[in-house]
Amino acid sequence: MSSIILFSLLFFICCPPCFSLPKGPSDPNSLYKSFLECLPTSSPQPDTTFSSVVYSSATNSSAYTKVLLEHIKNFRYNTTSIPKPAIIITPKKENHVQAAVICAKKLNIQIRIRSGGHDYEGVSYTSSEKTQFMIIDMFNLRAIDINVGTETAVVQAGAHLDELYYRIWEKSKVHGFPAGACPTLGIGGHISGGGYGTMIRKYGLTIDHVIDAKIVDVKGRVLDRKAMGEDLFWAIRGAGGSSFGVVLSFTVKLVPVPKVNTVFRVTKTAEAKAVDIVFKWQSVMSTIDKDLFIRVLLQPTQEKNKKTAQATFMALFLGDSTRLMGLMSKSFPELGLKKEDCFEVSWIQSNLFWSNFDYNKTKLDILLDRHTDVVKFLKRKSDYVQTPIPTQALTSIFNKLGELGKIGMVFNPYGGRMNEIPADATPFPHRAGNLFKVQYSLSWKESDAKVTENNMNQSRVMYEFMTNYVAKNPRSAFLNYRDLDIGVNKGDGFNSSKVYGGKYYQKEF
Ligand SMILES: Cc1cc2nc3c(=O)[nH]c(=O)nc-3n(C[C@H](O)[C@H](O)[C@H](O)COP(=O)(O)OP(=O)(O)OC[C@H]3O[C@@H](n4cnc5c(N)ncnc54)[C@H](O)[C@@H]3O)c2cc1C
Ligand SMILES: *[C@@H]1O[C@H](CO)[C@@H](O)[C@H](O)[C@H]1NC(C)=O
Ligand SMILES: *[C@@H]1O[C@H](CO)[C@@H](O)[C@H](O)[C@H]1NC(C)=O
Ligand SMILES: *[C@@H]1O[C@H](CO)[C@@H](O)[C@H](O)[C@H]1NC(C)=O
Ligand SMILES: *[C@@H]1O[C@H](CO)[C@@H](O)[C@H](O)[C@H]1NC(C)=O
Ligand SMILES: *[C@@H]1O[C@H](CO)[C@@H](O)[C@H](O)[C@H]1NC(C)=O
Repeated sequence: MSSIILFSLLFFICCPPCFSLPKGPSDPNSLYKSFLECLPTSSPQPDTTFSSVVYSSATNSSAYTKVLLEHIKNFRYNTTSIPKPAIIITPKKENHVQAAVICAKKLNIQIRIRSGGHDYEGVSYTSSEKTQFMIIDMFNLRAIDINVGTETAVVQAGAHLDELYYRIWEKSKVHGFPAGACPTLGIGGHISGGGYGTMIRKYGLTIDHVIDAKIVDVKGRVLDRKAMGEDLFWAIRGAGGSSFGVVLSFTVKLVPVPKVNTVFRVTKTAEAKAVDIVFKWQSVMSTIDKDLFIRVLLQPTQEKNKKTAQATFMALFLGDSTRLMGLMSKSFPELGLKKEDCFEVSWIQSNLFWSNFDYNKTKLDILLDRHTDVVKFLKRKSDYVQTPIPTQALTSIFNKLGELGKIGMVFNPYGGRMNEIPADATPFPHRAGNLFKVQYSLSWKESDAKVTENNMNQSRVMYEFMTNYVAKNPRSAFLNYRDLDIGVNKGDGFNSSKVYGGKYYQKEF
């Protein structure tokens, strides 16, 4: 917990001098010139390549726009009214990052750090403040070095998750890595915000497998774990990297995976007792074999003129289908899983399955394609559930989803390894005692202000509706499912450090 103190220290040590610095030029052209002049003088090594990695809105308009849009992964933030960075730097070397941090401070420009650009509220490339800001865009720094002997990997911040999975697979068929299920997530944001995936019950979170890191701190120094110290190293594993520095790379420990794994996807309608099965699922998941992960997706539907929801059960089992069938008939017969619902796959194929690729027909090198995501307009919120939601309440949740018509919910099971890791081992405190995490999920394609407004409203209405069924005191949230609604001042003694601290870290500070 001491990193919270550290955060305040960094903030206070750095900020008073920042306030007294002269403001950088406000006209974008001169700002660009001043920044380019500053960079070589602030670089620890002589460097003549800066002008090829700096894009200015004024000077390089079309190249700048291309770079800016490339990693805007939520179209809600692709509008002209959203403030744009004055400068984007796309570092190719560590000293580019160091010089950028030092010069941003000298010229008093705020920094946003972007790796994969998947932030649900666009905070890696937008600003709510009036001051000039720049983006340090990490996509060029994406080297991955796998060492099977030591079972470790050094991954640069700009690499995507599926690139890491692919590179592991190239070297070993019996190793994997416990991280997210969306292929193009950036390492920098995903890991520093916690990170979880379909092996969470077996191996815990992504941050539980980080053994070293390299960051550029506020003074422009490159620090590894030893140099940064355990407090800062603790903080960047779950409290969001951008509060503490620019993550250059993480060193992670790989985990063993079996050669044969099993996946399934089974949908149950309300009529086929979806409510009862979801009810049972809640308690089964906390204690069942760690090799099994079953996610539930609730989606609105209409059955015989009644608006309700259906439940899809999507699973990864780290083992073959015979063992899985034995486990299911013993502990979760309500689902009625059949052998023909089960597909045996390699671990890397299971990643294709979770990304909704056809794992039989799709060539694995699609994982190296950096543009496979279907970008849409997105809104997400999150909650934790600690006591099973009764069937009656589940029925009303199904009906509410049906009535609203667009919003879906994803239940992600905890239990297993998550129960064994202390709440303060990392900044991520939602461990033992949590049955599952809820994600409120809305994605749409229409570029229409009315549609956006209606969908944003649906997410808030459903969130309100769930109040009685989810963890309270504090009602909690997952940092990686960024949701700026929770920071909106509703009057009533609102205190942002209390609210964010409570929800994300279960600690008011
Ligand atoms: C389709 C989709 C599926 C998802 N699935 C999962 C999932 O399965 N599991 C899960 O845990 N999460 C999931 N997420 C959430 C995801 O982990 C977060 O959005 C994560 O922050 C994305 O990282 P990024 O680098 O792509 O994002 P960015 O938008 O680039 O960054 C996100 C945040 O991290 C900061 N940051 C980025 N890079 C650095 C760096 N190098 N140094 C310091 N700070 C940095 C940014 O400033 C910003 O605050 C999903 C998101 C999407 C859009
Ligand atoms: C931006 O424009 C300047 C001036 O034309 C040019 O020197 C520089 O190379 C351009 N930067 C990039 C990254 O293309
Ligand atoms: C995103 O913005 C760019 C530039 O304004 C525009 O060309 C593009 O059509 C936008 N995309 C969407 C989906 O709105
Ligand atoms: C994938 O291939 C296997 C073996 O040929 C087959 O049994 C299975 O049905 C296929 N799965 C899908 C989703 O097509
Ligand atoms: C939000 O949706 C609810 C329920 O559908 C509706 O009653 C309410 O008027 C909406 N609010 C806004 C601000 O649109
Ligand atoms: C907000 O809450 C924190 C923690 O309880 C407290 O230390 C701080 O003084 C509060 N700030 C304000 C402005 O009330």
